[in-house]
Amino acid sequence: MLVVVLLLFSLGETESAGDSYVAAVYEHRVVLNPNPRIPVTRREALIHMQKNLDIYEEQAAKAAQQGAQILVFPEDGIHGFNFTRSSISGYLETIPDPQEESWNPCTEPDKYNNTERLSCMARRNNLYLVANMPDLQPCPLRTVLSTCPPDGRWQFNTNVAFNSDGLLVARYHKYNLFFEESFDTPPKLELITFDTPFAGRFGLIICFDILFHDPTVALVKMGVRQLIFPTAWMNELPLLDSIQFHRALSLGANVTVLSSNLRNDQLRMTGSGIYTPFSATFHHAVKGDPEEGRLLVATVPVLSPVGMNNATESMSPSPAESDHCHTDRCGDFPSPPSSYPTFIGTMMHDPFKFVLIKEAEGNLTVCDGKFCCHLQYKWTAHDERKELYAMGAFAGTHTFDGRYALQVCAVVRCAGLEASSCGQKVEEAESKMDFLLEATFQTDYVYPSVLVNRMAVEQPDKLEKATGGRLAMKHSNLSGGLITACLYGRISSSAETEDSGLSGLQYEAWSGLRDGGVSNATPLETWFEVGWWLITAWVRDKAGMAAIVTMGEVGIIELRMRAKQSATSRFGAQAKAGV
Ligand SMILES: *[C@@H]1O[C@H](CO)[C@@H](O)[C@H](O)[C@H]1NC(C)=O
Ligand SMILES: *[C@@H]1O[C@H](CO)[C@@H](O)[C@H](O)[C@H]1NC(C)=O
Ligand SMILES: *[C@@H]1O[C@H](CO)[C@@H](O)[C@H](O)[C@H]1NC(C)=O
Ligand SMILES: *[C@@H]1O[C@H](CO)[C@@H](O)[C@H](O)[C@H]1NC(C)=O
Ligand SMILES: *[C@@H]1O[C@H](CO)[C@@H](O)[C@H](O)[C@H]1NC(C)=O
Ligand SMILES: *[C@@H]1O[C@H](CO)[C@@H](O)[C@H](O)[C@H]1NC(C)=O
Repeated sequence: MLVVVLLLFSLGETESAGDSYVAAVYEHRVVLNPNPRIPVTRREALIHMQKNLDIYEEQAAKAAQQGAQILVFPEDGIHGFNFTRSSISGYLETIPDPQEESWNPCTEPDKYNNTERLSCMARRNNLYLVANMPDLQPCPLRTVLSTCPPDGRWQFNTNVAFNSDGLLVARYHKYNLFFEESFDTPPKLELITFDTPFAGRFGLIICFDILFHDPTVALVKMGVRQLIFPTAWMNELPLLDSIQFHRALSLGANVTVLSSNLRNDQLRMTGSGIYTPFSATFHHAVKGDPEEGRLLVATVPVLSPVGMNNATESMSPSPAESDHCHTDRCGDFPSPPSSYPTFIGTMMHDPFKFVLIKEAEGNLTVCDGKFCCHLQYKWTAHDERKELYAMGAFAGTHTFDGRYALQVCAVVRCAGLEASSCGQKVEEAESKMDFLLEATFQTDYVYPSVLVNRMAVEQPDKLEKATGGRLAMKHSNLSGGLITACLYGRISSSAETEDSGLSGLQYEAWSGLRDGGVSNATPLETWFEVGWWLITAWVRDKAGMAAIVTMGEVGIIELRMRAKQSATSRFGAQAKAGV
């Protein structure tokens, strides 16, 4: 029996419990090592890291003065990036597992050979502090079935959390690496949380993790309502700008996200925020702003560990789930008859079906295969001689910088006045419309956003979610010209990922192999060899076959299988697949 339950939530309301706390995030202009690929001594690495820690020290004191109870610093904010596996050595520390032993580096500095500044910063300023640093964990050398890297150690991109006494309370190893040559994917998924006396439980994720079921959606499904999100986010308009997507996660998953980004103009890094289901406090630099750090402090409601999590579980599976398609293109079913022409344009490296938004008001539908987006709109400010808009739909597997399945609806301002410019990056707009954007998704995890002129996010008036996967976003009275209105649905391959025991990225690599017809065996283990912009995944199955897949900027560029026989190996079948 399918009862249609409408979950309406007005975004103006606040949490009834009345409990609140003060959160802070710091957007940090990281001091970089100018030659990250050249190894340095531990002493040189420490001298470099102290420069960033000096800034952290000042900001922790400022945050404390403003009453902050928790402060979050960004990914790579202490050491920087672009290291090789060996050149990062001087920066590595071995961080003990707080689930196994209790350690306060500030009060017990001699217990481990580690710097203790973060712990003392938390203690001195009486706040919880989360930062990101590289962790080295020795491991037994690779035996037949071990996944230990050949040099006998794991190197992890790691979040550490200290309580207000300086005690190390959580350690999280990033699961979805983004082409990070110096780091390993942890052998097992870690779902890491810590509890605070002022706001209950917080979960830890890092940067690229945000796009995947594991650990992000897995934490939300566990009932975690507050996510800590250090990131080094390179902005990608029109759909994946920092504030746009981080705000969208908070709305789509009905959670609070404490997002701390780096500031680096050359790498398009800016945009940090404190997002709750009801409010957004954010900073996003625009052209001409001085390249500097920014502390954000906000009082936010404590979210109780109930919410949409269990409700959505009972809402799924939707009828659509059964005919969920795993192929790149979900079959070309006829679109509803329409009098308006559609065209294909590339947006975020994906082929979107677009329709232009030309009339003063109207109802538009555009479909990509079976997936259809509907828009009801009315312009309140628009000069068609100056700005062109389009609505795009995409359902399929994104293959650039990682492989993941999407269903996306987006209204975008085109960069120019030609249809061919739709989907390109723009940062400014003057046109305003009142609209209702809706679609039926094959996932519960759809991230809604409204991005307006000069990089600001708006709170949609209403989000309406129904059984069967329908989601509608209604908004009027835009405060700035519309850049993008988007419903970004992430189809997760979680069930299969969990079955296979592979991480998100490993699974994507494995499914690439499978889709490429290279192997249909069950993967037993995978490991990764990563170079900047190039990643090689090894997948071993039960028959002892190992496949390797090389992924570069254009997705999967080469697939090879080799037969593993005793200690020596030789290459067998070869296949090329992907794009
Ligand atoms: C790091 O690598 C990226 C990609 O190759 C490059 O664009 C960037 O300039 C590098 N940054 C530094 C600080 O070396
Ligand atoms: C501890 O650090 C010192 C200097 O930073 C280094 O010389 C020494 O080898 C380290 N000891 C261990 C056990 O790692
Ligand atoms: C949500 O569901 C999980 C498992 O199904 C259960 O353990 C948890 O108590 C539920 N939470 C609430 C708030 O009902
Ligand atoms: C989102 O969370 C708030 C606060 O916990 C709750 O009141 C509301 O019902 C939730 N909304 C949905 C759609 O589950
Ligand atoms: C668009 O559709 C809605 C709902 O079906 C209808 O009320 C409205 O009149 C339509 N608007 C236009 C301009 O066709
Ligand atoms: C939008 O603005 C108009 C005119 O100021 C007002 O009448 C209307 O109630 C507003 N709508 C919303 C949803 O705030």
